[in-house]
Amino acid sequence: MVKREHWGTRYGFLMAAIGSAIGLGNIWRFPYITYKSGGGAFFIPYLFALITAGIPLLVLEIGLGAKTRRSSPLAFEKLTGKKRYGWVGWWATIGSLLLVSYYSVIMAWTLSYLIKAPTLAWGTDPNTYFMKDFLGWTGNPLNLGGIRLEILIALVVVWTINWLIVGKGVRKGIECVTKIMIPLSWIIIAILVIRSLTFPGAMEGVNWYLNPDFSKLRNPRVWLDAYGQVFFTLSVGQGAMIIYGSYLKGKSDIVNNSFIIAFADSIFAFLAGFAVFGTLGFMASQMGVGIDEVVVSGAELAFVTYPKAISMLGAGSGIIGVLFFFLLLMAGLSSSICLTEVSTGGLMGSFKMSRKKAATVACGVSLLAGIIYTTGGGFGWLNLMDNYINYFSLALVGALEALLIGWVFKARRFRIWVNFTSEICVGRWWDWCIKLVTPFILVTTLVWTSMSILKAGYPIEAPYPSLALLLGFLIILAGMIAAFLCVRLTKVDVTREKFKV
Ligand code: ALA
Repeated sequence: MVKREHWGTRYGFLMAAIGSAIGLGNIWRFPYITYKSGGGAFFIPYLFALITAGIPLLVLEIGLGAKTRRSSPLAFEKLTGKKRYGWVGWWATIGSLLLVSYYSVIMAWTLSYLIKAPTLAWGTDPNTYFMKDFLGWTGNPLNLGGIRLEILIALVVVWTINWLIVGKGVRKGIECVTKIMIPLSWIIIAILVIRSLTFPGAMEGVNWYLNPDFSKLRNPRVWLDAYGQVFFTLSVGQGAMIIYGSYLKGKSDIVNNSFIIAFADSIFAFLAGFAVFGTLGFMASQMGVGIDEVVVSGAELAFVTYPKAISMLGAGSGIIGVLFFFLLLMAGLSSSICLTEVSTGGLMGSFKMSRKKAATVACGVSLLAGIIYTTGGGFGWLNLMDNYINYFSLALVGALEALLIGWVFKARRFRIWVNFTSEICVGRWWDWCIKLVTPFILVTTLVWTSMSILKAGYPIEAPYPSLALLLGFLIILAGMIAAFLCVRLTKVDVTREKFKV
């Protein structure tokens, strides 16, 4: 039997796990959700979601990996002693593969923009440049309109980097790289925050970001958004923390590590808000408009609004642009290597593949699956799949794993188990969060979103053709069926293995 790899140091594990958590979600999603959902008042639902679901699931996933020392599919089989529950782990694995296949395309855009930043190549109209010249967005996902060569080349580069890192292994690859990348990301975000707060108008922007509006908290959507943000940003429901937890040495702390990861990730997102809103404040003041007229989230924030603001800076603007896109690339890469490791570890564990071969298959399949997003219709597919994966994979997996451990394995038993090797202990509250709160919130979100798609289409403002929505759903369904096939094809039986505590 091949000896299981493990982290060289606790610091190494923490850097890798924090790297998995810190990603695009912190930079382009958190600041906007905060602003939209009541500014400073949003920290109440956010912290509530973090404590009642984010951290409990983090403890669950890291604990599950650490105790079973298996990748996500085998971890569920081993824990429950039933092969059929491996489906949850396989669906998490396939979901993470689908996720990283479009996530990596955003990184490909980022790489291209990093190269464009010194010369401000997006010109005076970054919106037309991004949508038309760069993406070639046809306005309809069903109209593919050909592959964009520039994006495809960048995508191949991104996958080569992922493959090199993951192929090198846990200690020599992932740990080694994230130990450099994560501290570097903190340094860059600190520079960007300090610099953007000195822009004229920045404080006005920060005021919009943090000014509390408690009336927003009466809207249930704000609470669901807080849970959605916490799940995505902590990389739970993706098999990610299970695989990273599985490389911990015996007797490693689980609970304290989970708190450290969750708070480091949240502080990073909070800081990113200052950089984003400081810059937006500057931009709005230059244009003589209110922040509400310039604020956006997601791709539009990073590739349209931010470049526009950078162009207004005058001398030194290229450096800010390079720092911003470099930060986005670091954050994305540290998450994507974790997502790649989920399928690599899954293939190694269940199909006895060597690391090199498993990494090649995982990267190769993800690259091929990502080609559709490099076409002129790709922008639409990316938005659609991002929405579907968040709910039909992340939320579903999160709910199922909470139910499995809460009710089948028994939350109390699991809690005693993780507390045994941890520096701090989780109390009985954890059991109730896992048994009731987390599944309830996740199932509510899932039902709510499905109803909204059925009723109003997606995106609500300008829905894509029904055929595209259906095709997207069929991809999800195919993934779920493939997860079932993987359980059947798995060569390894761990259902009778003993646990090491
Ligand atoms: N946790 C990663 C992010 O926030 C996936 O982008």
